[in-house]
Amino acid sequence: MSANQSLPNIVILTGAGISAESGLKTFRDNDGLWENHSVEEVATPEAFEQNPSLVYRFYNARRAQLQEDDVVPNAAHLALAKLEKAFGHKMMLVTQNVDDLHERGGSESVYHMHGKLLSARCAISQQTFDWRESFDHTTQCPCCKRVTLRPDIVWFGEIPMYMEEIYDALSQADMFIAIGTSGNVYPAAGFVQIAKENGAHTIEANLEPGVSNALFDESFTGPASRIVPQWVDELISKYAL
Ligand code: APR
Repeated sequence: MSANQSLPNIVILTGAGISAESGLKTFRDNDGLWENHSVEEVATPEAFEQNPSLVYRFYNARRAQLQEDDVVPNAAHLALAKLEKAFGHKMMLVTQNVDDLHERGGSESVYHMHGKLLSARCAISQQTFDWRESFDHTTQCPCCKRVTLRPDIVWFGEIPMYMEEIYDALSQADMFIAIGTSGNVYPAAGFVQIAKENGAHTIEANLEPGVSNALFDESFTGPASRIVPQWVDELISKYAL
């Protein structure tokens, strides 16, 4: 189906909450510690410099967990893939998640602003490589044959990816929805404000109201696997797609 020009431009931002029902922990839940380290402690360039083994182990563990049999996309991921089929380029899916559950759910265009778990990056050339296994400071980089591989993750203090494309889409958005994100981490947490200033209708879909709740015109509260398919079905029937 080709996208109808009269459809609204939609920007969707997802966070850890959309993958919670797929068996992946969110970051800021009550026991959001890993071997007694907060995520912030293992997700910085400084941590990688000071204790690389810990950082490699953290991402190796998360990469392995992502590939366990019981980690599968849920109804919310599937619904967003269905929306993409109906809306085509009128919709942009931006995720803060480093998992591949949107892709496994059928989404073809996903902007991973915080990088990807199933990818390794050469710290020198910045080339990226699909990577499913563990790697560490002894693993040879495919491009330079040196030991320069780092997780392909945007750490705290680094600049997220695709910012130009995302700000461009936000400037043209008629609708913005944030799904399963607490609104604690910038720049993603600021997208709602930008979309709103540009005249977009803003929607929050979360288990509980997030920190920026007041900036949303509409708020759906509940598990993503229930509220996202509902929202998608309503949108699809509204535009008779
Ligand atoms: N359905 C919907 N929302 C849910 C569900 C669910 N089943 N379970 C949890 N949530 C909500 C929580 O209430 C919380 O508001 O998802 C949100 C998850 O928030 P965070 O753990 O802070 O995750 P996120 O907002 O994605 O974090 C942003 O911070 O640690 C960094 O780089 C990391 O991308 C991450 C960024």
